[in-house]
Amino acid sequence: MRPIEQRAVQAYREQFLEEPAIIASAPGRVNLIGEHTDYNGGFVLPCAVEQRVAVAVGAVGHESGLNQATASTLLSQLAFGSDAVQGVLYSADFRELCPLTGKRTGSWADYPCGVVWALTAQGHEVPLFRATFAGDVPLGSGLSSSAAIEAATALALDAFFHLGISGKDLAVLCQQAENKFVGVNSGIMDQYASLLSQAGMALLIDCRTLEAEAVPLDLAAAGLTLVVCDTQVPRELSATGYNARRQTCERAAHALGVKDLRDAHVRDLDRLSGEELKRARHVVTENARVLEAAEALRRDDFVEFGRLMYASHRSLRDDYEVSTPELNAFVDLAAQFRALGARLTGAGFGGCAIALIKSEGAQALVESVRQHFAGRGFPRPIFYTFQPAAGAEVVR
Ligand code: GLA
Repeated sequence: MRPIEQRAVQAYREQFLEEPAIIASAPGRVNLIGEHTDYNGGFVLPCAVEQRVAVAVGAVGHESGLNQATASTLLSQLAFGSDAVQGVLYSADFRELCPLTGKRTGSWADYPCGVVWALTAQGHEVPLFRATFAGDVPLGSGLSSSAAIEAATALALDAFFHLGISGKDLAVLCQQAENKFVGVNSGIMDQYASLLSQAGMALLIDCRTLEAEAVPLDLAAAGLTLVVCDTQVPRELSATGYNARRQTCERAAHALGVKDLRDAHVRDLDRLSGEELKRARHVVTENARVLEAAEALRRDDFVEFGRLMYASHRSLRDDYEVSTPELNAFVDLAAQFRALGARLTGAGFGGCAIALIKSEGAQALVESVRQHFAGRGFPRPIFYTFQPAAGAEVVR
């Protein structure tokens, strides 16, 4: 068991004075290329990071199965709501106990509650259960901590209640939880990547057909490091900016008479103008870049892969307009340090950027970014390096 999974188990023992029946975990993700293409029916190429959210699940037992503090907190919380309680959730990170109800509370518990809501909406019976969570995916940084908690919950409940739902269907279910319960109108990439990634592989996902192909990504063998820079820029505008871009894409697709922008070609673009043209140009060219990048990976052509990463960043900066000065500064510095490629990753508006660089050059880049950010009064960035990790797993 990974340390993070042990923490979830330990929390379960402390809160409920029993052993959990099921332990599962799911990773955050980094998207290598293919940004804002998922909700346009297109292609993405993410991989799982090493940080995960773990969950320990068991049945609700008798009164004696709660420690004294847990029981009294829960009772006082229940006194406030008349909603039917479907279970009990505890976060080891927030040290917080929440009743599982069908109501949104604006907290971490919305993600597991959303998964239960989506299961029920699909006609699955979800008897009472209790669960403890522990995670080390940084929150709100664009590494998809929310998808990780949804994916871990969905996989654990599928195993616990013997639902027999496929990984792909769990991804769709988690996306529904996010869209319809949590209220964030995201695409399918994050949940799909968290559930279905494989260690040592990137995952080429066709977001229309939901078919995927694992493409080997052995960075160590190539002497390369993927540096993730969390700019620590709060993504305040991300929800509104994200939704506005989705709507513009839908308008552009409508104007071109196609179902999704995935079906449009570069030659169609001169029928658009203004914002619709810029947004659509990003999506159409980005989709093509993803396929080229996967092809480059298949032949271990990291030089070409890196070139496509830089092109993706320029397109996100100039046409999709979701970059920030911090993300641009990171990419510019990466280029100065001869990184093969660099780009913002995730939705943009802050969050993370990545650079693919020869391993011996990674530390110098990190130090220079730290200095440069401090000099410009940017927030203090946080760096991660990782090898592509395993997707969601039931570990016991
Ligand atoms: C967020 C969303 C994803 C995807 C990316 C942009 O991470 O959750 O579905 O749209 O932004 O590529």
